[in-house]
Amino acid sequence: MASMLNHQLSTCAISSSSSTFFNKTNFISSTSSNLSLPLKNPRIQCVANPPAEKTTYTTKVSRNANMAKLQAGYLFPEIARRKAAHMLKYPDAQVISLGIGDTTEPIPEVITAAMAKRAQSLSTIEGYSGYGAEQGEKQLRSAIASTFYKGLGIEEGDIFVSDGAKCDISRLQVLFGSNVTIAVQDPSYPAYVDSGVIMGQTGQFQKDVEKYGKIEYMKCTPENGFFPDLSTVARSDIIFFCSPNNPTGAAATREQLTRLVQFAKDNGSIIVYDSAYSLYISDESPQSIFEIPGAKEVALETSSFSKFAGFTGVRLGWTVVPKELLFSDGFPVAKDFNRIVCTCFNGSSNIPQAGGTACLSPEGVKAMSEVVGFYKENTKIIVDTFNSLGFKVYGGKNAPYVWVYFPGRSSWDVFAEILEKTHIVTTPGSGFGPGGEGFIRVSAFGHRENVLEACRRFKQLYKFISNDESKLLENAWIGKHMVLHLASSRQVYQELGVWSENRPPDNLPQ
Ligand SMILES: Cc1ncc(COP(=O)(O)O)c(C=O)c1O
Repeated sequence: MASMLNHQLSTCAISSSSSTFFNKTNFISSTSSNLSLPLKNPRIQCVANPPAEKTTYTTKVSRNANMAKLQAGYLFPEIARRKAAHMLKYPDAQVISLGIGDTTEPIPEVITAAMAKRAQSLSTIEGYSGYGAEQGEKQLRSAIASTFYKGLGIEEGDIFVSDGAKCDISRLQVLFGSNVTIAVQDPSYPAYVDSGVIMGQTGQFQKDVEKYGKIEYMKCTPENGFFPDLSTVARSDIIFFCSPNNPTGAAATREQLTRLVQFAKDNGSIIVYDSAYSLYISDESPQSIFEIPGAKEVALETSSFSKFAGFTGVRLGWTVVPKELLFSDGFPVAKDFNRIVCTCFNGSSNIPQAGGTACLSPEGVKAMSEVVGFYKENTKIIVDTFNSLGFKVYGGKNAPYVWVYFPGRSSWDVFAEILEKTHIVTTPGSGFGPGGEGFIRVSAFGHRENVLEACRRFKQLYKFISNDESKLLENAWIGKHMVLHLASSRQVYQELGVWSENRPPDNLPQ
């Protein structure tokens, strides 16, 4: 019986008569066509053959046990999957994506023109080039050093051009190997944790705390200004630190980074500093870890053209490994990284490198700052919207991400609510680590009309949570619903910043 059911669940049977539910939760079965389509349970596949377990050939190669430790999918493909499922459910909906953090605006002409020119020159005898230097073209390395690290003692030879910061993060993990311990900001960009798991640096995932064993999670919350309390952080070999941070949008101050560098020095750790959003900084926060005296002995830095010039698809980044950075035996980290780059990577594609060089020309720098400026305007629109609705909102000032607080709620629930009711894709905070629970990340990467439309829909959905107390009282019954729904207490209002001690909304349920 069970195997019959299994067979039914794993096949796509076709016949002909009118539609009925075969199994309410999993299938709509059209008896007229005898067509069974999986609905809710994503694990059930519609396949043309009999049960997989009976016929599938398996090799004798065991699965990498570290891969088996990984939880579900990588966050962003999982969000893309949910978006696709939503679009299937609502084929006519105008879905707006403020989720994955992918750039949307065209690359400035001055940059694409340089790439087109290089592409065309590959068709000429004089312009053709094959494999290039694994570390990148001299002109680009030199332009990166003089544009981003001027006066900081970083030279062309310290820079390794790459196909993006994410790829470099994995290559750095290969460099450090399986025996190191790692620390990450919590919440943080998921590539640090997942690549650490794949490398075997971690223990199993512990469901009760939503953490992998052997990773030091450095909690970053509104209470600590999104900078970890280092007095409670245990020593790790490698500290991944991203500023401005994805997802919280917080940029560490000079004083905080000075403490971080000192912490690394005291512990003999290496900081992997991710500055993929440094051009979004609009206050005095450092744009590079190397602005901190002594950082060259304890830090390397990875960065990217992705969010500066819309190169998410073009693929170009870089990593700076200062010659001063040494392993415990005195061997230069840069020499080993060079070996990794030469072994695992054959250098960045020549066409994006022409684009990168154009980015760093005076016109290119201006064009990049316009691209960044555009997204920063989007950020302000989103921040203002959530502020006007009475939410506590973080980030946004120095980063293209807005970190919105939904006290007492599961972020996957809020993600699902927003998607279902507004057709807007966001990112659930808990996808970035347990410290992100209760938050939603709203990305400012979007066409202006989409961002404005999304904000209209956010206002529609959350209009009852208003900073305007009289409106709150007027909508007391909705407030009551909200209170019950969220946490059944005044605290919710206090946390939302809509509480007035002088005139608390006493007519609301306590
Ligand atoms: C913090 C951070 N680092 C690195 C990356 C990846 O950059 P790249 O496109 O250069 O691989 C991202 C992309 O979103 C990011 O948010």
